[in-house]
Amino acid sequence: MNNGFKNELALYLSKPVEILYYNSIDSTNTEAKRLIKSGKTGDILIVAAKQTEGRGRQGKSFYSPEGTGIYFSLVFGSLEKPPLSVTTAAAVSVCRAVEKLTDKKPEIKWVNDIYLSGKKVCGILAEAVSLENRTAAIVGIGINLTTADFPESVENGGSLGFFGSVPKLVAEIVNGLYKTAFLPTGEYIEYYRTRSMLTGKKVYLIENGKKTPAAALGISDTGALRVRLENGEICEISSGDVTVREE
Ligand code: BTN
Repeated sequence: MNNGFKNELALYLSKPVEILYYNSIDSTNTEAKRLIKSGKTGDILIVAAKQTEGRGRQGKSFYSPEGTGIYFSLVFGSLEKPPLSVTTAAAVSVCRAVEKLTDKKPEIKWVNDIYLSGKKVCGILAEAVSLENRTAAIVGIGINLTTADFPESVENGGSLGFFGSVPKLVAEIVNGLYKTAFLPTGEYIEYYRTRSMLTGKKVYLIENGKKTPAAALGISDTGALRVRLENGEICEISSGDVTVREE
């Protein structure tokens, strides 16, 4: 337990939340699921200095070394249903926090990867657990604060270059999530649009290993990616993976 970190974090949070801090854990999202399934109710913020089995979207792993990153999951414990656009809200909260505390200009790669200078510096994994009488939503966020060396398996990893107060950064993001997660997407989508790094780019839509070339046109009011396929058809993608096409 790192009480210094916990106390400082609690000081900056705009809403009191139970904080669990681990020096090392398999995954803060996995721990969140265990706690929810064991009957724990209420909101929880689970923070770890290191993850041994950090998880990413699409079944990928998330490299989570000690000392150079911060890994945390906010659990909205008792909801009637999961917030609709929590992933979009989380990306906005991370960017706003980074812009508030630094002079950096992060970008959002749809749907919720945060990039700086063309490298991925933060990943977000939102999951829901449905129980008999309630739903819990888990928003897991991993930030490469200063991580410089990545294993070969990590594509395009980069560092935020953050040397400020980490509890303050985490608190800013969590405060932002409480502000945006339950708002209609329209309330913050314009901010998201101005940080969207795919808009105007040639991309591949990736589904079940199949790559479909398309052009990214923009972000819809609900946070979907608007694309034009090569046959001219325009559609909105609301899940899946997209990569930039270098041509
Ligand atoms: C991605 O890049 O695809 C999403 C990565 C999400 C990583 C965070 S770190 C905290 C939380 N615990 C996990 O195991 N994953 C998320």
